[in-house]
Amino acid sequence: MGVVPAGTADTAVPASTGRPYVLLSCATSIDGYIDDATEQRLLLSNAEDMDRIDAVRAGCDAILVGAGTIRADDPRLVVRSAPLRAARQAAGLPPSPVKVTLTARGLLDPTARFFTVGDAEKVVYCATPAVDKTTELLAGLATVVDAGDPLDPARALADLAARGVGRLMVEGGASVHAQFLTAGLADELHLVVAPFFVGDRRAPRFVGDGAFPWHPGRRARIAEVRQIGDVVLVRYALSERCADGRPG
Ligand SMILES: NC(=O)c1ccc[n+]([C@@H]2O[C@H](COP(=O)([O-])OP(=O)(O)OC[C@H]3O[C@@H](n4cnc5c(N)ncnc54)[C@H](OP(=O)(O)O)[C@@H]3O)[C@@H](O)[C@H]2O)c1
Repeated sequence: MGVVPAGTADTAVPASTGRPYVLLSCATSIDGYIDDATEQRLLLSNAEDMDRIDAVRAGCDAILVGAGTIRADDPRLVVRSAPLRAARQAAGLPPSPVKVTLTARGLLDPTARFFTVGDAEKVVYCATPAVDKTTELLAGLATVVDAGDPLDPARALADLAARGVGRLMVEGGASVHAQFLTAGLADELHLVVAPFFVGDRRAPRFVGDGAFPWHPGRRARIAEVRQIGDVVLVRYALSERCADGRPG
């Protein structure tokens, strides 16, 4: 990583087919919602599960969320645990993984915690029409990469691989998860189910309509089921790259 100075646009997105190992992570209510319809962020995980997520983050080279999640949740996306950060540094890695987002419109707030919390490198894959304004907006804060028009997530993944990202964690939101799943760009899904209902159709669901590669005729494989306090984690193996029993 770090081949392009922050605040500059990189137009050299390779068309290679190689991509990182992609791990999708999501928490839902029993009825499949990933948030409620209020302005406040809905807490679905519990403290123990947040520690697990922290460890999964620490095991990745980069974390990706959609621009909608940055706007809705203002996530930090850093490794919280000091021992985990220290272990990464001892292994010659930065304390937290690279932060990555996708945007077509470039409607990103430079004061969002995605950009201001932690020392991790930030990469913004941007659709061509918004590259110039986004590069200007995020000068000194992020590397803005022209990822085509329309932006193709597979192209962003190829670029991440070229930047040395071998393992990517995708933390939502709904639109991003749906795209990665329908495009067959996911190797593993960590689905956490919280023990309550949202019951409000105005709230976002895990994914909307789409042609998913896993359907009644092609069922996904369960790699692990684990109770974590009052939530349940199911790890689905979505490709042959996902080895059963691998620590999540
Ligand atoms: N429970 C959970 O685990 C969890 C995790 C994360 C988020 N969430 C929830 O998910 C909701 C947000 O989901 P969302 O679907 O609205 O947003 P999202 O998937 O986070 O982001 C969607 C936005 O990302 C950009 N984008 C995505 N794919 C793109 C592509 N192929 N090309 C160009 N731009 C692309 C666009 O940004 P622009 O509009 O800037 O062009 C798009 O509007 C929030 O309610 C949040 O709380 C829940």
